[in-house]
This record gives sequence, structure tokens and C-alpha cells, in this order.
Amino acid sequence: MNTASPVPSDEVDPASVRIVLVGCGAIGWEVATGVYAHPTGGRYRLVAAVDPYPDRADAVGALLGIPAFASLAEVLAAGIEFDAVDQRLPHHLHADAAVEVLTAGRHVLVEKPLATSIADAARMVAASDRGGVVAAVAENYPHLSAVKAARHAIAAGRAGAIRALRTTRAYTLGGVWVRDGWRTGTGPSAGIMLDQGTHHTSLLRQLGGEITAVAAQHSTAPEDAGDGAVETVLLTVRFASGLLAHSLYSWGAAALADEVEATVFGSKARIDVRVSYEADLGHAHCFDARAPQGTAISPPENYYDSHRLMVDDWVAAITEERRPLVTFADAAADLAVVFAAAASLRHGGDFVEVAEIAKG
Ligand SMILES: NC(=O)c1ccc[n+]([C@@H]2O[C@H](COP(=O)([O-])OP(=O)(O)OC[C@H]3O[C@@H](n4cnc5c(N)ncnc54)[C@H](O)[C@@H]3O)[C@@H](O)[C@H]2O)c1
Repeated sequence: MNTASPVPSDEVDPASVRIVLVGCGAIGWEVATGVYAHPTGGRYRLVAAVDPYPDRADAVGALLGIPAFASLAEVLAAGIEFDAVDQRLPHHLHADAAVEVLTAGRHVLVEKPLATSIADAARMVAASDRGGVVAAVAENYPHLSAVKAARHAIAAGRAGAIRALRTTRAYTLGGVWVRDGWRTGTGPSAGIMLDQGTHHTSLLRQLGGEITAVAAQHSTAPEDAGDGAVETVLLTVRFASGLLAHSLYSWGAAALADEVEATVFGSKARIDVRVSYEADLGHAHCFDARAPQGTAISPPENYYDSHRLMVDDWVAAITEERRPLVTFADAAADLAVVFAAAASLRHGGDFVEVAEIAKG
């Protein structure tokens, strides 16, 4: 991520989309420094920063030379003009905040997971369907070059017949990600499935199509019992095509600099989707008869660079009056799979039909 000084204001197009950043915590700061300090082509600009922690809002305000507030209501009361709101809030706050912005006729970008209940997701989708505003979700995986390359290779037949998929998200939660405490424990925003499950559901749906059923089991090893920062879940996922996938989620596991987060097992080739959070080591790698040692089929990338792609896509959707790459309906479909997995966990690990859960 680029953390250099922001662009001088005379390089910003005055007709650019005016955005309020709501939530200046871990990822809010990341996008402020990595994206909004250098808006692509001057097509957008932050006009206010909002966080109830004054030091967090002030830090973004000082970085970008914009006013800081404790709430969106204060921004409105101050008469700040804006077109759109970028929300980087804890999970249980997404629904009310997004519906409020859409109802006021402004564009919104919401973090994943879309919501913490199927009912909340449904009212968000309904609010996004009213037209005239763009509602997008900051779901990274459809934006990653490695995922796009793997998807393209599958569609082009390079892997042959697809026999199975596998995904892995294993790392140790710490630092700013546990600072406010809501990710772990038993609260409405907590748990690895809510935090990472929609990401890997999105990844799986990019590679394998619609998911119809899921079976899930928690590790019950004594070492996995704790404050919620240690958690391991195994999913078996069934796609509409009949294809199967395995997904492993673990908090408390040693992380790799570049993890093979997805593998496509094809009759002609195997494709790995490598994701890197610390360096430009992410890419898709294809192993086949021509190159048994494997060959890169996408350029090197850092996962966090996809945050620029998501903001750029959202802004382009606003200015071009088109759909964003990840709509609220797409994210609601990801969420339904996660809630089907949660239902399976409660019911002994049997397969649960996603359509049943999506009805609410
Ligand atoms: N897509 C990704 O790569 C990625 C990465 C990390 C986090 N996230 C998502 O981003 C969201 C935020 O995660 P985080 O780790 O930055 O959390 P965080 O707790 O660090 O930040 C959230 C911020 O929201 C603020 N906040 C709470 N209520 C508010 C309100 N009413 N108005 C304005 N601000 C308010 C909090 O004070 C806090 O500073 C979550 O949905 C998370 O899943 C996505």
C-alpha cells in the first residue's frame, strides 16, 4: 500500500465524486492511506472522516486535510456536501448504516460480510434495488488478478474437467484486528465464518459457480477452546453442477507469506491461487503436462491492492451509471452460504440447503 503524502489538491478534478469515510479503524486507515491519499485519476476525493474515536477520525482528517466528525449526523449538520459514503464498520453496524445512506439517495460502499442476518441482508438488497444509487460491497476476491486468471483458465478449458476445489484460510488473528474486540467472543459480529467465510464463499463461487448446500464441522480439540481468537472449521461445499469443494478456516495457525488459498483440481491441470497480504507474491500458478513445475498465469499482486480496485470500480459504476462488480445481491448470496454453514454446525454437521437458509 502507498503511504506517501496525499496528492496536492490542484490535481483533484473538482467534478470528482465526494466521499465520506465512515469508520477510521484498521481497514478505514488502510484505505485512507493506500487509496484516498492518491485517488485514481482524481476521480474521487474524501471530504470528511467519521469515527466516534476522535483520534482515529482526526488522523485521517490530518492526513488528507479534511474535517473529522464523530458521526454522519454531524457531517450533515455541518453542511458538508457529499455524494457517497464508504463504510468501514464492525459487521453488526453495516445494515442500518447502509440502508440509511441509500434511503437518503446517496451511493454506498459496504465492507464484507454484508450483514449479520439474512433479514438484514434482504432489507439491504431491497434498499439497493430502488435505483439511482450504486451500492457496492468491498469483497476483494472477484477483484484479484489471480482469481480472474484461474476463472478464465477454467472457462477456457485449460484445466480440463474440474474434479474438485479446495480453499484454505489459516492464520493468526492479532494486532489491530483484535484491538476493539468485536471479531472474537460471542457477539453478533464475531467468528471466523462471518469474518472470513464470505470471502472464501465469494472465491469458491468465482471458481465453481453457485453453491447449493454446505456441511460444516468445528474442531473440538481442547487447544481450540478459548476466547474465539482460536477457531478451526471445516466445510464441505456442494455446487449446483454437482462439484464438491473442501474449505478449511483456522484462526491460531501460523500464516505463510503467500498462501495457496484455492486449488482447482482439473483432469488436465491443477491451478493454485496464491494470495499474499505482506508482499507482491500473490498470483495464479498452473501445473500441467507442458509445465509440470508450474507457470504463473497472472501478474504478482498484494491482496491489499485490491482495495483500490474496489473503490475505483464503485466510483466508475457511479459515474458510468452501471452495476459494480460486487452488488449487495452477490454479497447476500455469499452470506447465505455462511449462514447455511452455521446451521450445519448447530445440527451436527449435516448438509444444509442454501436456498432454505436464504428464505430467512
Ligand atoms: N476486505 C478486507 O480486506 C477487509 C480487511 C479488514 C477488515 N474488513 C472489514 O472492514 C470492517 C471494519 O473492520 P476493521 O478491522 O477495520 O474494524 P475496526 O474495529 O478496526 O474499525 C471499525 C471502526 O468503526 C468505528 N465505528 C463504530 N461505530 C461507528 C459509527 N457509528 N460511525 C462511524 N464509525 C464507527 C469504530 O470506532 C472503529 O474505529 C469489517 O466489516 C471487516 O470485516 C475487510
